[in-house]
Amino acid sequence: MYKSKIIGLGKYVPDHIVTNDDLTKYMDTNDQWIRERTGIEERRWAQPGDGNTSATMGVKAAKIALERAKLTPKDIDFIVFATLSPDYYFPGSGVQVQELLGCDTIGALDVRNQCSGFVYALATADQFIKTGMYKNILVIGSELQSTGIDLSTRGRGVGVIFGDGAGAVVLTRSDDDSEIMSNHLHSEGKHAKELTVLAPGGPNPPKKLVEDWDPEDLSYYPYMNGNFVFKHAVTRFPEAIMEGLKAHNLTPADIDILIPHQANLRISQFVQRKLKMRDDQIMNNIQKYGNTTAASIPIALTEAWEQGRIKKGDLVVTAAFGSGFTWGSNIIRF
Ligand code: ACO
Repeated sequence: MYKSKIIGLGKYVPDHIVTNDDLTKYMDTNDQWIRERTGIEERRWAQPGDGNTSATMGVKAAKIALERAKLTPKDIDFIVFATLSPDYYFPGSGVQVQELLGCDTIGALDVRNQCSGFVYALATADQFIKTGMYKNILVIGSELQSTGIDLSTRGRGVGVIFGDGAGAVVLTRSDDDSEIMSNHLHSEGKHAKELTVLAPGGPNPPKKLVEDWDPEDLSYYPYMNGNFVFKHAVTRFPEAIMEGLKAHNLTPADIDILIPHQANLRISQFVQRKLKMRDDQIMNNIQKYGNTTAASIPIALTEAWEQGRIKKGDLVVTAAFGSGFTWGSNIIRF
């Protein structure tokens, strides 16, 4: 059995900044509510004509990750792309990355696990390297969410949270002590409708949207039972982290940096308190980018690395919880 390690990290966010005050143009909200309930101060939104989509932002992040890994697109054996906002209903965005980057006709897989998407994608890539099937894999999390949210007061519980952006890592076969030590993945589908976009889907096909368009039909917008999701998140995050640590006889004190999915600053602060971790052991950047779903962990991981907060040999733990419900963690010796 081989081991895998991260050798390149990259991130990309659109230039356009949307502050909390900017949102008051669309809906009845205010800076104080958003900061107090979520910690978010601003987010990035793609703008018409700037060319940013989940696929193209993923490519921009991937190019940086490849350069830092000192590899070219031709060195990549496989692509795993996590998103809830693909450019097309089908095919997935991984194939667009294969084309836009100029990779050989390698396999490309899309992961549809929303906020847990990157944790699942990294775990998936790790398995392909462990078995020896592939050597270099590009793992991307990318989201264009701003075009799909209800910007009216009706949708404000969700609309203020989401941001756009992408993060990417290059995973390769490890020949030293750096490795993805383990992955811990979970789901509980009975709560699928507590955080969902119901349409388009089999029972709600795009045809219905065109032929029977009803402006009051909310099934094409994200729905979130915020309090319910919050309560589950604050239980599942610590569970996933502790499950991973216990597998290696480690404790929260051993973590050099925790990279939680940036869902809500209050959730991350709750997890930090519960696990009795210091401020320097946890990465928070939701203040600047909002919740970028599958992109949030690779963006935060890259930013922590760029800030010098991750060094070789560090114990880095990722954890996510979100729609599905799905949740999980990756335990990484960097
Ligand atoms: N601005 C002003 N007021 C608002 C806004 C807003 N943007 N949104 C809601 N309110 C109002 C509500 O209408 C409500 O008013 P009322 O008391 O008069 O009825 C009041 O604020 C409180 O609303 P709650 O929904 O109870 O607010 P809460 O404290 O739960 O915060 C939030 C909402 C931020 C969404 C929180 O529940 C949360 O973060 N939940 C978890 C999010 C999460 O982890 N998601 C998973 C990842 S996302 C994914 O997987 C795709």
